[in-house]
Amino acid sequence: MRRIYLDYNSTTPLHPGVLEEMMPFFTTKFGNPSSLHFFGRETAAALDLARCRAGKLIGADVDEIIFTSGGTESNNLALAGIARRLKTTRNHIITTSVEHSSVYDQCVRLEREGFKVTYLPVTRQGEISLNDLEQAVNERTALISLILANNESGTIMNTNAVREIARETGALLHYDAVQAVGKIPVNVIELGADLLSFSGHKIYGPKGSGVLFLRRGVALQSTFIGGEQENTRRSGTHNVPAITGMGKACELAEEELDEYGKHCARLRDRLQSGILKIPDTIINGCLDRRIPNTLNASFPGHYGSNLAVKLDLAGIAVSTGSACSTGRNEESRVLKNMGLSSRELLGALRFSVGRHTTEKEIDYTVKKLAEIVSAENSIGKKLNIVNLDKL
Ligand SMILES: Cc1ncc(COP(=O)(O)O)c(C=O)c1O
Repeated sequence: MRRIYLDYNSTTPLHPGVLEEMMPFFTTKFGNPSSLHFFGRETAAALDLARCRAGKLIGADVDEIIFTSGGTESNNLALAGIARRLKTTRNHIITTSVEHSSVYDQCVRLEREGFKVTYLPVTRQGEISLNDLEQAVNERTALISLILANNESGTIMNTNAVREIARETGALLHYDAVQAVGKIPVNVIELGADLLSFSGHKIYGPKGSGVLFLRRGVALQSTFIGGEQENTRRSGTHNVPAITGMGKACELAEEELDEYGKHCARLRDRLQSGILKIPDTIINGCLDRRIPNTLNASFPGHYGSNLAVKLDLAGIAVSTGSACSTGRNEESRVLKNMGLSSRELLGALRFSVGRHTTEKEIDYTVKKLAEIVSAENSIGKKLNIVNLDKL
C-alpha cells in the first residue's frame, strides 16, 4: 500500500547526508571523546564540529551549547537546573498553559518541591498576552519558559518585548524551540534568550540527540552527575554518532531553511484550502503566525481518533495531538486551554508536512478525508449515532 507521512512534527526521517556523517562513528571512529589518545582526539574533534554547527544555527557560541539526549532532556534540565540553582532567592516560574509536557510536567513537579508556578492563559489562537506576563513577573521570578512554536497548533509565540519584561526583574528567559528550529529563523541573541532547547530528530537528525543553549555566565544545577562532560553541566559519555549526526542536520537545516519553509508552506496551504472545503471544518491556531509545516483542524461532530485510524487504514499518517499522547484518546490539554469546545477538541487532527511531502500526496489526503467525513456523516444521520452535537 502507498503510505503518506504527514506527521513530521512527531519525528522526521534521517537525512541521507546525516546518515553518511554518522556511519564512521559506529565503526572505525569509536573512541571516547574524553580520552587523551588518538582515538579520543578523533571523536573529540567531531564533537567540536557538531558544536560549531549547532551554535551557528541558533547564533550561539560553542561554549554555550550543551549536548543532551533530546528536547525532553533539554527542557527538563533548563527548568529544574535553573529553579533548583536559584531556589533560595527566587522560587517563582512563569510558563504557559500550552507547553509541551516536558516543560509542563516539570513545572508541576517543581510545584511539589515548593516552587510557585504561573501558567499563563492563551487566546483562541494560542497566544499569551504581554500584559499577563508583565503582571505575573516579579522579583522572585527565576525563569520565564515559553514555547516558541507550538507542536500542536503551530502558533509562533509573539516574542516582542518578552526579553525586556524578563530583564526588568532579572528573570531568566528560556524558549522551547523544538518545533521552531529548522522551520523558522531562530537566533538566541535576537530573542534575548538565556536558555533555548531543540531536538535532533525534528530536523532530520537522529533520535536521542538534542541541545540546550545556556548563555555564557548563566549557571544551572546539573541533573546527571559523576563526569566532567559538557563542563560538568551534563555528565555521561557522549553519544558521538548521534551528536555528529545532529551537527550535520543543523548545518543542512541552516542551508535549506528558506527553501524548506517555502516548500512546507506551499503544501500546508494547499492542504488547508482542500480541507476547508469539507463542511464545518475549523482551522485551529494563529493563521498569521504559524510554523510553515503545521495545520491543526477540527471536524466537529467527529472523533479525531476515528478519523486518524481511518486515514491510517488508507495509508495516511496524521496525529490527533502531540505524539506523546497518541493512543491515549484523551482531550488535548493544549487545544483545551486554547478554548476549543468539546466537539472541536474531540474532532481535532494535526497534519504536519515535510521534506518528502508532494502535491499528489496532499490531494490524495484531501480526497480520502472528505470521503471519510462524508461517510461518517451519512451513517450518523441514518443511524442517528452522531450524538456529539449535544456536547
Ligand atoms: C515543543 C516540543 N518540545 C519538546 C519536545 C520533546 O522533544 P524530544 O522528542 O526530542 O524529547 C517535543 C517533541 O514532540 C516538542 O514538540
